[in-house]
Amino acid sequence: MLRREVRLRWRTCTLRLLALCLAALLCTHLSAELRRKSLTQPGPIVKVPPKEPGVELYNRRIEEVPSKRQVIYVRRNSKAASQGRPGGSTGVRRRDPLQPARWYIDLQPWADPSHSLEDEARRFLHYITKSQIACPHLVTNGLTDHYVDSVKPWTVCLDNKFSLAHQIRSKQCRVYSLGLGDDDNIFEFSMASGGCEVHRFDPSIPSPHIHEAERLWHHRLSVDWRDPNPAIAPHRLHSNTKKLKTILNEFGHWKIDVLKADMESAEWKILENLILEGVMEQIGQLVLEIHLHWPGFEVSGNDSSVVRYWYSLFKELEHKDFKLFFTYKDLTKPQIFLKKDLFNASSCYILSWVNTRWT
Ligand SMILES: *[C@@H]1O[C@H](CO)[C@@H](O)[C@H](O)[C@H]1NC(C)=O
Ligand SMILES: *[C@@H]1O[C@H](CO)[C@@H](O)[C@H](O)[C@H]1NC(C)=O
Repeated sequence: MLRREVRLRWRTCTLRLLALCLAALLCTHLSAELRRKSLTQPGPIVKVPPKEPGVELYNRRIEEVPSKRQVIYVRRNSKAASQGRPGGSTGVRRRDPLQPARWYIDLQPWADPSHSLEDEARRFLHYITKSQIACPHLVTNGLTDHYVDSVKPWTVCLDNKFSLAHQIRSKQCRVYSLGLGDDDNIFEFSMASGGCEVHRFDPSIPSPHIHEAERLWHHRLSVDWRDPNPAIAPHRLHSNTKKLKTILNEFGHWKIDVLKADMESAEWKILENLILEGVMEQIGQLVLEIHLHWPGFEVSGNDSSVVRYWYSLFKELEHKDFKLFFTYKDLTKPQIFLKKDLFNASSCYILSWVNTRWT
């Protein structure tokens, strides 16, 4: 009896001991497991802190400069929206994403620290009287051979190096002519008879659009450096002014092979607008009459600033790889420069540039 009890107790004891042992084993295993986990975790835990400050720093940096980031994003967005939407045609879109929005042209350094008119004028006049590229095939007043003495020498370059010659041959050339009514149109007629699609813009004609001849259209539109103020436009029914970029978009044109412009002193602000809005890239050759007897419409500043501004506009063209290939000093016009008799300059020059990116 006693023996049995003892044996039973012993058995339970051993059982308990076994259970205890098992429990202990489980415990050590668990703790070992935990320690192992905590040993592998300390890695990340230790590693995280340096990571986290970094992330925090990064986040903080993002938070600190949200305006900068947002501005860039918004600007890109609005640019894509404003240029992609009306552009419609593939050609416009192809170039535009590369162009940041611009509000001012880049002014060139002064010609001289003295900022004198003489130094500015000397630099400017030297620039406009010297060709930058030789064109072995100059054609004056369109494509006909007979040269009419009375007309101005509107000159294009038909050298095979540049696209115009090929575009004329394949009858895919387009000419825009901007004027104010008092010019002859020999250039336009001969470009049209030579195979170009010619659009004349002149606010003085009686009806909105006239099909003057085969491939020659006349539009009652005046090209300006801004779109009309909607508050002013309605009562001036006969004059409709638009920016060239707007006209191109409305006509669905993405390129102009020749842009001829005689804008009677509005050329500076129009040229500035074409540069700022990235329209120059859509032009193959530019034939421009410039007027130097006064600063021009909405050009302000003292005389040396005005000449520096004119010069800077032409340097912008040069920066866009437009090369001057023809320059003509008009001796029939008064020989005055900003109301002065200076360096024997004329008040009027005709200049032709070729966009050397169009080959
Ligand atoms: C013209 O104005 C500019 C600043 O707009 C100035 O730096 C320059 O000296 C002035 N030139 C003359 C000749 O007064
Ligand atoms: C002024 O320019 C004209 C045309 O370029 C030239 O014939 C004339 O000799 C020049 N006069 C002077 C004084 O340089």
